[in-house]
Order: sequence, then structure tokens, then C-alpha cells
Amino acid sequence: MSEQMLPYGRQSIDESDIEAVVGALGSDWLTTGPEVDKFEAAIALRAGAPHAISVTSGTAALHVAYAAAGIGAGDEVVTTPLTFVATAAAAALLGAKVVFADVDPATGILDPQAAEAAVTERTAAITAVDYAGVPADDAAFRDVTTRRGLLYIEDAAHSIGSLLHGRPVGSLADLTTYSFFPTKNLTTAEGGAVVTSDESLATRARAFKNHGLVRDRSAQRYPDEGPWHQEVHSFGLNYRLPDVLAALGRNQLERLDDFVARRSEVKDLYDAAFIGIDGVDVPVLPAGAAPAWHLYPLRVPAERRRQVFESLREQGIGVQVNYIPAYWHPVFEDLGYTRGQCPNAEDYYRREISLPMFPGLTDGDVERVIAATRTALTTAR
Ligand SMILES: Cc1ncc(COP(=O)(O)O)c(C=O)c1O
Repeated sequence: MSEQMLPYGRQSIDESDIEAVVGALGSDWLTTGPEVDKFEAAIALRAGAPHAISVTSGTAALHVAYAAAGIGAGDEVVTTPLTFVATAAAAALLGAKVVFADVDPATGILDPQAAEAAVTERTAAITAVDYAGVPADDAAFRDVTTRRGLLYIEDAAHSIGSLLHGRPVGSLADLTTYSFFPTKNLTTAEGGAVVTSDESLATRARAFKNHGLVRDRSAQRYPDEGPWHQEVHSFGLNYRLPDVLAALGRNQLERLDDFVARRSEVKDLYDAAFIGIDGVDVPVLPAGAAPAWHLYPLRVPAERRRQVFESLREQGIGVQVNYIPAYWHPVFEDLGYTRGQCPNAEDYYRREISLPMFPGLTDGDVERVIAATRTALTTAR
């Protein structure tokens, strides 16, 4: 794709993916069927957690996780502003108050101390985001959430395939959510999953994603109604991932190690090109982290960010900015959230540009991005 616009992220679909989807399309099941079970088992194995619940998006995964946690009106959820708005919106939709705490200025990830300082007697959970694929500091969040009697939720939309001290993301928090959007580390077109080691959270998550239906007779209030009977004990929605997409996901999971390896190579090539340039910062790698680099967030001087961004776009490099601080969105502004409350996140946002990062990037593509970035940095003054 040398002369076309290089996107910042892109799926990798090969013949084996196509065969998996075609196989599911020709089966008796289009929606919930055996592929969903197999995909969930494969996700659980990869995550190192006994329960995986597939859903229709990363946003649905967050909604399901918060609902399973029982989060609702009167509760507070502490989270990072340096995220896609869904991390906060899913909690707000359940009636909870979202409390933003600041990030570590080096990594852009929620700072455990800032998160703890934001905890009140109404706090129900802390949700960290594995920004760019770098796992949040699990030991610190475990410590805070255990001491304060909270749930630790990890929005791992960027980080399936990442490890922390050798442990997979998915085995660290009480509830972990993944996204399988096409730019993510693996894709089911639209899709996501919730993983947990807690059986009761898993049961509630499964119920919420399927209308709250109770089919287990031993759990029903009216089990003698008849063999057709199913009943609803609490409201839920339909977030069921179809078999066709689960088949794609299962095949993509088998390719995940290759994807992660290529992302890591691209990251090293970018690092080698940009380390040492005045005013420029490459992503920071915390001790013990082995990230599946979903993003490559380069930081440039804030006063030149817009020019660098525009120059890169003009040169055919489809850069992005991840993310506008969540509380800058008018929906939060209208609720009274003000700018300036998380200065580290705002500073990170003002300097950030996400360079193209996906497994299909060739070395030639990477060289093109590097050359264009150098040009943008020298001409934008
Ligand atoms: C950090 C984060 N959380 C949640 C989501 C939502 O995922 P989805 O697009 O699959 O709904 C995204 C997607 O961009 C994300 O980046």
C-alpha cells in the first residue's frame, strides 16, 4: 500500500480466517452455537481465567462488566480520562457517577495513588485502561481495591496478548474487558469479551448479555411451569456474539502471537528512529510488562502537535490522536466536569500522535512513516 493513505490500524485477514467464517456460515448455526463455546474456551485459556463471556463489542463488554458488578445509581466508578469514552459511558449509562483520576505522566495509564485519592464511601470499582497495550500496575490496583473493598476492572480493549510479569492480561483484575474491533489486536469485526475468575460475576455477566434469562430450573422461581419455561429475574440486553464472528475470533486467536510479535518489531523500529529527538518521547515500557502494542503513541511538543499531525496526514500517513480526555466531551461538560482536573492526562493528550501500528505493516511502510515523521517534525516549527 505504498502510495495509499496508511491507516493507523488495520485488521489482518488471511485465507484461514475466511475458511473459518465460511465454515460457520454453512453450519446449522449463525448465531449462538458451538463456535461461541469454542471461542469462549479459547479466550479463557489465553486470558488465564476460568470464565470468558463473548459479547458484541468492547463497549458491550464494559456494560456487561459493570452490570455484573452490580454498579448503578448511587455508586461511583473511578477511572482514567485518557481512554475512549466508552470506559466511562458504560458506567454512566447504568446511573453511576464517573470520577476521573489522573494518569502517570510517563505511561498515560491511571495512577494508582491518584485513583485511591479519588475513592469515597460510594466508590464501587476502579477501572484502569491498558493504554496502548501496556498493562496497568496490577499489584498497586489490587492493593488499593482490596484494602478499600472495591472491584478492580481492567479495560483491556488494547491489550489482549499482553503480559505482566509473565501473567496474561485477563488473569489480573476481577473483571477484564476486551474489544475485537478491526484495529484491535485481534478482530471479530465487531465484538468483545468479559473474563473473570469469579463464578458469580460470570453468571451475572452471562445473564445480562442475554436478557437476564434464567433457564436453569434449579434457579427458577416457577420451575414447574413447563419444559419451555424461562424467566427473567433482572433486566438484561442482547449482546450475543454470533457464531460466524466467534469462528473468526477463534482463528484470529491462533494468529495472535504472530500479530503481537510483528507489533513489537514495528515498535522497536519506531523507537530506534525517534529516541533522542529533542522534545519527542517514545512510549514508556514499565518493568515486567510485555505489551501487545496496540498503539504507538509518540509525544511531540504540544505547540507543534497540530502541525505535525496535519503534515503527516498530508504525506499520506493516517495518524490518530488517542485520546481527548473523556471529560472534555460535551456530555461530561454538561454534567459539570471541568477542564484542568487531570493535568497529566491533558498534557499527554496535547502531545500525543498515534503512528500506524498493525501487523500488516511492511518494513517499507515503517520506513515511510519514519521519514514522514522526521519531515513533519523538522518542517512544523
Ligand atoms: C480503551 C477502549 N475501551 C473500550 C473501547 C470500546 O470498544 P468497541 O469499539 O469494541 O466498542 C475502545 C475502542 O476503541 C477502547 O479503545
